Parts: sequence; structure tokens; C-alpha cells
Amino acid sequence: MKKILDLISEEMIQAFTEAGYSADFARVTLSNRPDLCEYQCNGALAAAKTYKKAPIMIANDVVAKLTDNRVFEDVQAVNPGFINLKLSGEYLAGYLRDMQADENLSIEKAEHPRRIILDYGGPNVAKPLHVGHLRSAIIGESIKRMGRFLGHEMIGDVHLGDWGLQMGLIITELHERKPDLVYFDETYTGAYPEEPPFTISELEEIYPTASAKSKQDETYKEAAMQATYLLQHGHRGYQGILKHILDVSVTDLKRNYQRLDVSFDLWKGESDAQPYIPEMVEYLKKNGYAYVDDGALVVDVKEETDTKEIPPCMILKSDGASLYNTTDLATIIERMKLYHPDEILYVVDKRQELHFIQCFRCAKKAKLVDEDTKLTFLGFGTMNGKDGKPFKTRDGGVMRLENLINEINEEMYQKIMENHEADPEEARKTAQIVGLSAIKYGDLSNQASKDYVFDVDRFTSFEGNTGPYILYTIVRIKSILARYTAEGGSLEQIRIHAPVSGSEKALMLAVSRFNAVMENAFEEIAPHKICSYIYELANEFNRFYHEVKILSEEDEERKKGYLALLMLTRDVLENCIHVLGFESPERM
Ligand code: ARG
Repeated sequence: MKKILDLISEEMIQAFTEAGYSADFARVTLSNRPDLCEYQCNGALAAAKTYKKAPIMIANDVVAKLTDNRVFEDVQAVNPGFINLKLSGEYLAGYLRDMQADENLSIEKAEHPRRIILDYGGPNVAKPLHVGHLRSAIIGESIKRMGRFLGHEMIGDVHLGDWGLQMGLIITELHERKPDLVYFDETYTGAYPEEPPFTISELEEIYPTASAKSKQDETYKEAAMQATYLLQHGHRGYQGILKHILDVSVTDLKRNYQRLDVSFDLWKGESDAQPYIPEMVEYLKKNGYAYVDDGALVVDVKEETDTKEIPPCMILKSDGASLYNTTDLATIIERMKLYHPDEILYVVDKRQELHFIQCFRCAKKAKLVDEDTKLTFLGFGTMNGKDGKPFKTRDGGVMRLENLINEINEEMYQKIMENHEADPEEARKTAQIVGLSAIKYGDLSNQASKDYVFDVDRFTSFEGNTGPYILYTIVRIKSILARYTAEGGSLEQIRIHAPVSGSEKALMLAVSRFNAVMENAFEEIAPHKICSYIYELANEFNRFYHEVKILSEEDEERKKGYLALLMLTRDVLENCIHVLGFESPERM
């Protein structure tokens, strides 16, 4: 369906043209004086110069063409030349009825769907998920859902950190602890056991222990580097261990992501890109993109317009080892080859921005991607504690994601039990659903690039701009509808009518903006815009709810109209929260 703003603009274009003015001046915007009007057009002010006429005269001419227009209830030219617009209630109701009948709730699927690889999550194998990975998962999941909702082909790739020194460290530590394992027997040629030589908790303990040791013990560190080298050059036993590390870790990661309702289409990792490196290096050298500088192989990526220095992109260190850049470039090659995406979008900590600037420039310059392949970096800010420093546990340690989720769920459970008497088992389930909304909405309602304070008390509150408040509103709507049907009413064949009160019209206007908001949020990769929209929508609904008696309305037709509006409001809210990555409970 067309956006309501576009429909209004079409009327204005016609009026401007009929009055003898250029359609270029007919642009309409949402009103910034909602007390005076709903939409406005400031084009007469801009047109004054072109036509050498007072703006108010132009505005008057245009308004004269809009008398008896079915779209507007009120059109006014006001000094110095604004055109204030109020929509006709009947027209607005018609638009909402069309929305209700539309299978995509007014959203137009993309005419030219794009294939977009979304690189998000980015957890590191063998290290527990911690809150640092939370934002990428939450923001990325929402972008993926938004894109799909609009008809694009979104391919989510978790891009595991499964390559590098951490693997060598684990192998070294395992060697010290269990030297008799068959993986370390150089003469062994048989198949390796199916059973992993460690559990996830052992694995999670092995890595930090090994990492700490390597910082104090030079020989240990060298052993780890040697193990990494051997692993990367095909050591059979070490590859066997790597496979176990991956299996055990990925099982655990999947469980954790599931708790967040985050899922990936691809479980690829840095290690998958390694086979592409030798050929890439050859290609970069042969075509003169890369040169040796101080022993290292680099590609220049600075540009004339740079205001700060962008150092060359390093492809190989002087000892021939590859780096983070190398892996990301090889991953780009792999993705182009296997999926040929129109765009690759990375949702990563904004502190990695320079790395991505270098990679993107190198990929474009060396034509590793097509000219029109878009490479996008969405850098997010840090999640801080109330002290303004990166979020930590009470005793200052790194907060594990699991514990954070448990803490929020417990807090939610307490609140639900305080609020009203509830069956403890049901309250636990509800607490999980609402808890997830608290975490996700708390994160997504901030512009991604900004740091924010993770405030458990505020995020779990049922009031204010929070996930639980949005869910509370949806539950309120559901319970009104349920009460109506419980008393024998039917929600079939009911239709939205023209608004009777100001608060009803305000709610309807908010509902009608759904498709515009969704499109714009995706275009700007800005889930926070969906949050501010549903916050406004929830507020409009609650104002309507407090001002208007819905179920006790005596005029049966009018009551049905209200209920139809409630259903549409619920559907819009439900679709929005689904895109944000959470669901609503039946009761709370
Ligand atoms: N594993 C990385 C980290 O924890 C994030 C990976 C981001 N994605 C990428 N293609 N570099 O910092």
C-alpha cells in the first residue's frame, strides 16, 4: 500500500499544479505543531522567490483548489504562508480498513529484493558469550527481521572467531594436562574419537587459564604460537581437537542464542576463509595492489579526502602470518563466490571501525567485490553500567550473558509477583518473555552507535519507554478483545469507523504511519526508530483507553469500530516487536 504521506502529497501536487505552481513545492511533512494540524506544507514559502509573490497568496491559491477535497477535513493557509492540513476522519478510517485487509499490513515488499549478508554475533569459540556480544546479536537480529519483513533476502552469518592464538593456547594447555591423548601421538594414523576430550565448562576454564599462563611464561607462549602455526598448517591431531572445540562451543552458543531468540542461517567462521588466503595474496601481489613494506605485505588505502590518517591495510606480517584483515578480506572473497550478495553489512563494535574502513577500501580497490556491491559497517557503542564504565558483574568481573539474562528474569519475576497474585510457574514463563523485551528494547531504543547505560531497574519497569511497558499495552488490548469475545461478542466482520474523539483520531494517525516508519528504519538501519514509533503508538493507545469507554459503549456499532481499531493497533504493535526480536505474553 502507498504511504499515507505519499497519498497526501499527491493531493498537494495536484493542487499546486492546478493553481499554476510547480509540483516541486508541494512537499508535505508531519506537522511540527500537532496542536494546530496533522500535516503541513511549507512549499509556498519556498515558492515565493520563484514566483515573486507573497507566500500567503500562493498558499491561498493552493488552498482554493482543495475545497471539498475528500482527503482533508480542514485546509488552512496561515501567515506567513504555511498550509496546515487535517485529514478527513472518513478517509483515515478507509486507509486503516485497507491496512487491516492487507496481508502485509500495508507494507509493500521490495520491488527489487536485495540479497544482504549480515555479519553479526561474532562470538569467539571457547570463550563464553559475554555482554560485549549482546549488542551485536540484538541489533543484527532486528535488522535481519526488518529486511525480511520488507522482502529482502537476508542471510545471517554468525562469523565465529575460531582462528588464531586462542586455539593454540587451548591445545597447549590440553597437552600439559592430558599428554596421553591420541591427538598428541604423532605416530597415530587412525580415526579420532567421537567423544570430545573436555566438557564446555572445562573448555571455558582451560582458555582463561592458558591465556593467563602465556602472559607470564614466555616458553608457554611460544608453545602456544607453535601449536597455532601447526594447526593452521594442517596438523592432523590439532585439527581433530579444533573440531571438538568447535562442536562443544557451537552447541553451547546455539543454546545461548536461542535464549535470546537470535538465530543464524550460517554458522561459518574465520577458519572457513583460510583456504582463500593464498590465492588472494598471489592476486594482490600480481596485480600490483600489494607491496612489501618493512617485510610486511600491505595495500595502501588512504584517500585524498581523508582528514585523519588511514594506515595501509596489512595483509601479511613480516613472518608471513595472516591477520584479522586478511581473514576478513578472504571472507569477502568467499561470500562473493558462494552467495554473490548485493551488500554485506557488519554489525560490530564501533571501536573496530578503522579495521573495516581499511578492509572495505582494500576490497573495493583490489576489485574483490563488484563495483556496486555495498559494504556497510554499523558500529555500535558500548553497553555501560550505571557507573558509566563497561558493564561488569558486581565484583567487577566480565558479566556472562547467561547470568545477565537470569538476573533480569529474576527481577521480572519479582515484579510480576508483586503486581498481582500469579501462579508461580506461569509467572516464571511470563518473566522470561517480558525479561527478553526489557533487555532487547533497552538496547534497541538507543541509537546503535551511541554508548548506553544498562539500567536493570529502568529497563524492567512497566512504565516509561521500556519493553515491559510496550508489552503491557499489548496485553491490555488483548485482554479487552478477549473479554468481548468471552461475553459472546464476535470480532469477525467489524470495521474501523471515522474517529469520534481527538484521542481516537490521534491513535489512528499513529497507526497509519506504520509502513513509512518500517521502511525508513530499514533504510537508515535504525531499529531505534521502530522503538520510538511504538512508544508513541502505545502512548496514544493508552490515552484513548483512559478517555474512552470501550466495552461499556452503548452504541453497538461504535463499540465494534473501537474494537476493530484495537485489533489493528495490536497487529501493528505485534509486528513491530517481532521485528525488534521479542514477543508478547497473553497475560502479565
Ligand atoms: N569475533 C570478533 C570479536 O569478538 C567480531 C567479529 C566481527 N565480524 C567480522 N567479520 N570481523 O571482536
